[in-house]
Amino acid sequence: MIEIEEADKKLKGFKFIDLFAGIGGFHYALKSFGAECVFASEIDKKASATYYLNHNMIPQGDITKIDEKDIPSHDILCGGFPCQAFSISGKQKGFEDTRGTLFFDIARIVNHHRPRIVFLENVKNLTRHDSGKTLNVVLNTLNDMNYDVHYKVLNTSKFGLPQNRERVYIVAFNKTYYSNSDFVFPVSNRTSCLNDILEKDPVDGKIIDRDDVQFYKNYTPQRNIFGEIDLPNKPIQIGKVNKGGQGERIYHPIGHSITLSAYGGGVGAKTGLYKIDGKIRKLSPRECARLQGYPETFIFPKSIPEAHKQFGNSVSINVLQYIIKEIINTVESNEQRTNARLSNGEEWFQKRKRDSFKV
Ligand SMILES: C[S@@+](CC[C@H](N)C(=O)[O-])C[C@H]1O[C@@H](n2cnc3c(N)ncnc32)[C@H](O)[C@@H]1O
Repeated sequence: MIEIEEADKKLKGFKFIDLFAGIGGFHYALKSFGAECVFASEIDKKASATYYLNHNMIPQGDITKIDEKDIPSHDILCGGFPCQAFSISGKQKGFEDTRGTLFFDIARIVNHHRPRIVFLENVKNLTRHDSGKTLNVVLNTLNDMNYDVHYKVLNTSKFGLPQNRERVYIVAFNKTYYSNSDFVFPVSNRTSCLNDILEKDPVDGKIIDRDDVQFYKNYTPQRNIFGEIDLPNKPIQIGKVNKGGQGERIYHPIGHSITLSAYGGGVGAKTGLYKIDGKIRKLSPRECARLQGYPETFIFPKSIPEAHKQFGNSVSINVLQYIIKEIINTVESNEQRTNARLSNGEEWFQKRKRDSFKV
């Protein structure tokens, strides 16, 4: 994650709730700007245990069973709601159409608490699901609740973390507070490479020793005119095991990792396979933590498959931080406008007072 300077911690005084909290990627990102978490919900007991160890807060369980009135008031609602395919395009009635989905739970909490900002994340496929109708219902539902809604697909690869991970981010501003939302998503072209985050011979980076390894070519990194290596900033596949299906492809550490996933299969399940120091191996949990921007102090489960699952389900903290910077810009520009309006109003009032004395 990015170190945020004291002067930039501009969310001090903001309270947030962390829904579908997992191991707390949103928590780290918002806290880094000074915001305070007042409630978290996570149904998975093992993820909750990791959350507690790192954030010193026990998440409440199943959000569908929690009455919105029992949730503390807050300024920001955030959550990477689960990405299982859901179709809510049926009757196009917005909010009511979402009943039975986990987005409905987000909507009913927003409807009750009216937070200033809603900040959501989901898989890229949400934008294409049911020809875009599912996403439209999500956007329209927020819009109908008086929110100005923005969304964009961003790739972690562009934000200084060497992982190819495309996700859709949704940011919505309550128009009662932010009448003029000039929000734009961040643009970044920061390069990075897997070599920078690798551990030296990690005991938990499973080595694959098989007879059916096949390399396509000897990949040679390109150099620019100054002789520096041109980082490709994307995964570079150099070989395969077995038939080269999912989890069976081998990548070069000058490039990026594939998308970490909670459920992927194959010998390289959840992380992919990489040729590192002449050996073919999976990524260790610590390497996965780094690929999602988690701090070095982060405590993960002892079970390697469980740790891989939790990082695969999580979110890229650095990308969230870039977005939060832009959210702060919108908050500040609205405050400036409000202050300008107030002082214009005050000037007008004084002028009227002066004019009325002339009469
Ligand atoms: C995509 S993950 C989000 C991970 C999180 N953003 C993080 O940083 O780790 C979705 C999470 O929602 C949780 N979840 C699913 N159904 C839930 C429910 N009904 N109530 C609370 N949490 C739920 C899952 O266990 C999973 O951890």
